[in-house]
Amino acid sequence: MQLSTKHLLGIRELHPRDIQLILDTATQFKEVLQRPIKKVPTLRDITIVNLFFESSTRTRISFELAEKRLSADTINFTSSGSSVSKGETLLDTVNNILSMKVDMVVMRHSASGAPHFLAKHIPASIVNAGDGINEHPTQALLDAFSMREKMGRLEGLKVAIVGDIMHSRVALSNIYLLKKMGAEIMVAGPPTLIPKYMQEAFDIRVEYKIKKALEWCDVANVLRIQLERQNQVLFSSLREYNLAYGISRKLLDSLSKEILIMHPGPINRGVELDSDVADSKQSIILRQVENGVATRMAVLYLLAGGREMNN
Ligand code: CP
Repeated sequence: MQLSTKHLLGIRELHPRDIQLILDTATQFKEVLQRPIKKVPTLRDITIVNLFFESSTRTRISFELAEKRLSADTINFTSSGSSVSKGETLLDTVNNILSMKVDMVVMRHSASGAPHFLAKHIPASIVNAGDGINEHPTQALLDAFSMREKMGRLEGLKVAIVGDIMHSRVALSNIYLLKKMGAEIMVAGPPTLIPKYMQEAFDIRVEYKIKKALEWCDVANVLRIQLERQNQVLFSSLREYNLAYGISRKLLDSLSKEILIMHPGPINRGVELDSDVADSKQSIILRQVENGVATRMAVLYLLAGGREMNN
């Protein structure tokens, strides 16, 4: 089977069949990654450039590792230290790199829509590794993979996405994906961090009281407060945010059931999540990072045409 798309620009553009195929293929790659020899020759003749115009730890390393596990040749580009500082445009930068016979582009950019713009102008496949406040599709895919692995299903699962919904590309990609796969979704947080359009546009629940949200859900996907994207004061202080919306051990212990805790990282410890929750058995945060490699292997493999998986 093949994906219905040449690029992975967002979850919004994917068919549920594409999502199912990526998750099932990631399961096979996860099995490969448990072996003593974790490398397969599947993308041996493919060259991939990782273009990071914005900071990243998990996504950049995860893509690079996924490419190496698939035996692709990789080039890593970060905008700092490049000719972007001399005024070179995004399109010129990418066209110059592609002229060196590069087949696929993985890109993170602070501008929403940057990968969509590129897709209209270049012949290579593009994977969006996060664009501004728009989408972070591989994060949503690895989140879904991790939820399905832990809870056994996505359909009917009650997922609360908690925190800074307004500035989160992870929130938007998760909402698109969970909706397409039949999960029930709630967004929870302060009213100033939840866009007004969301409830109607997506037909999802909105909750402003954290305890009520946690009582409702099976899984809480807790988001980072993105101070770097906020150009106005949207809550009084980080201390008060933690008191009203932070997830503490005491709060989890007061619930009538045990819920699964997720976070895409990086965590603001002591703000949206206390350390004794982030590091507890209820949390699968590091499992999400582990699953990112298999999920990204699946995406790259399928975008390259899903050739014979030579193990
Ligand atoms: N989750 C995530 O995108 O983390 P990085 O910003 O470190 O890549």
